[in-house]
Amino acid sequence: MRNENNVKLTERTNAPLSSIREISSQIPVINKEREFFGLDPLINLSIGQPHIPPDPKVLDAVQAKLNSGTLSFCYSRSQGRTETLEAIVRLYSYYYPEVDYTKDEVMVTNGASGALWNAFSILIEKNDIVLAFEPYFSTYSSQIQALYGELKKIPTFHNNFRPDIAKLEESLATYPNAKVLILNYPNNPSGVSLHEDDLQALARKLNEYPQLIVIIDDVYRDLNYTKHLTLLDIDPSFRNRCVVINSGAKGLAGAPDLKNRYGECQERVDTGNVTTTIIKLIWCSLFDAGRTDCCRRGYVKGSILLVDLF
Ligand SMILES: Cc1ncc(COP(=O)(O)O)c(C=O)c1O
Repeated sequence: MRNENNVKLTERTNAPLSSIREISSQIPVINKEREFFGLDPLINLSIGQPHIPPDPKVLDAVQAKLNSGTLSFCYSRSQGRTETLEAIVRLYSYYYPEVDYTKDEVMVTNGASGALWNAFSILIEKNDIVLAFEPYFSTYSSQIQALYGELKKIPTFHNNFRPDIAKLEESLATYPNAKVLILNYPNNPSGVSLHEDDLQALARKLNEYPQLIVIIDDVYRDLNYTKHLTLLDIDPSFRNRCVVINSGAKGLAGAPDLKNRYGECQERVDTGNVTTTIIKLIWCSLFDAGRTDCCRRGYVKGSILLVDLF
């Protein structure tokens, strides 16, 4: 819409732009100038723009599906095609072996961003408080603000970006009615992963606050260089108050640009279907091709290159 008639837009459109996205959008402009002056392009470390080509196994599986003559363009159920949901449940039994999810508890969304939006929409009323350890993925704050909730940061800078239980306790004392705590490990942007003792300490503290819902933003689990654990491995009873969110676009599919992601919500909201075609592509890349390690291997190679450069 071109707002030539000055239609009054909602207050939520006043949310500040993400600085990281602004920086990212300037990089091609700066690189053009640098090219003009004969300078090397900047190395872009600003946004998680994939530099790793999709795993050929995934592309082959997509191609096979496209050629199979079974691709249809009909409406799917809002939470996703049954066979896809069943496949996600199978994947989750591998990811979260201590917990039995059923297909009625999972939902396919447009990106983990869509899953976050659904989860926040289910959970947050006006003025509700959401806690997140610093630093955090900037979309959390814009989505929460759009729903008139408030994101309160729990400091970690003094602790090398690791969650500090004393600071969590302080935040919970300050905001005793906090509704949600977000856990995102490996963390964007710090890269910090949680160890078993971190999770045990978190589980002990959170068990003192049974009303607090936990969102496990697990999108980088497959890019962990060490064994990845979540609260669900430490105490499976958290399944009753956790929303788990994953993204096939990250380490899992090895195809970060396919935009075929899924999320898991214990409640459902209907924010419109993910198209059948996309769901078929999810099916292909995640399951027909088998799990691939292409992204993680690409990032390991990249980290070695960076260490060499610096
Ligand atoms: C921590 C975190 N959660 C969620 C997302 C959103 O993932 P998607 O690209 O699948 O929407 C991102 C994207 O970079 C992220 O870094």
